[in-house]
Amino acid sequence: MAPLKLVITRRIYPEVLASLAPAFDIIAENQAADQPWDAATLQRAVSEADCLFCSVADRIDAAVIAAAPRLKMIATGAVGFNNIDVAACQARGIRVTNTPDVLTQTTADFGFALMMATARRIPESERYARAGQWTGWAFDQFTGRDLHHATLGIIGMGRIGCAIARRAAGFDMRVLYHNRNRSQEAVQATWVERDQLLRESDFVMLVVPYSQATHHLIGAAELALMKPSAMLINIARGGVVDDQALITALRERRIAAAGLDVFENEPKFDPAFLQFDNVVLTPHIASSSKATRGAMMQLAADNLLAHASGLPLKTPVA
Ligand code: DGY
Repeated sequence: MAPLKLVITRRIYPEVLASLAPAFDIIAENQAADQPWDAATLQRAVSEADCLFCSVADRIDAAVIAAAPRLKMIATGAVGFNNIDVAACQARGIRVTNTPDVLTQTTADFGFALMMATARRIPESERYARAGQWTGWAFDQFTGRDLHHATLGIIGMGRIGCAIARRAAGFDMRVLYHNRNRSQEAVQATWVERDQLLRESDFVMLVVPYSQATHHLIGAAELALMKPSAMLINIARGGVVDDQALITALRERRIAAAGLDVFENEPKFDPAFLQFDNVVLTPHIASSSKATRGAMMQLAADNLLAHASGLPLKTPVA
């Protein structure tokens, strides 16, 4: 039987590519590390494909699916799959897989790092030192906010939220969380209503998946509930926060700071964010350790290999 035809939308590690090569006829491969194909190129690329290996930054909408009449399987190298029209896939019988678990610890580490960088003003003070502005030590220089004994509110208590709560215990933080379901995991954290979490937390960390239900979960009304001294950390998805409402809240000093790894319309985030020294901006890298990005790619590849061999998919979402 002829090998299945595979399209890969982004440059992947050579060893992951090598694992796929014996089982697939790779008919199109985007060699760019960070530039997605435009919609027309993507639709052309998938027109003969049986399988698709995509990234979090590729929009796999109904038009792409309609342009791929042979498509049977989509493996995304990410845990989030809001960029894929899963309903359209299901209607066509196309299987979809993601990459849960392998990025949990790395993403939790990053959430903590972003919270610490924001609280202790690390990027701002680094810019100052690098610019040669440091002329002497002062008691009130870059005074930040303590994490220890502060209250952390986690919105979204899945695997990553629980891993963040475990880290917070080591910092003697009080941890509140809000989630549709109470966590069954052994974490020292208290479920509260979302408004209570927003009112009481010194740090609000967003870890929810993006969906219609979580679109603009944090907008003007929610930001207004937060303490003026509180900080917002978003490692979830851009659309979970209403960026314009956040910019207004920061401008009016209604919250103290924000650490943002994800943005609406990324990578073209609103340049208004650049005016704030109390905002730490990173380019959607929460899962980006070398090993974890490799594990994400390999899990996507292993799902494709399972499909090619007629074996059960390792991590199906549909
Ligand atoms: C994911 O896996 O969903 C991340 O956002 C990309 O690393």
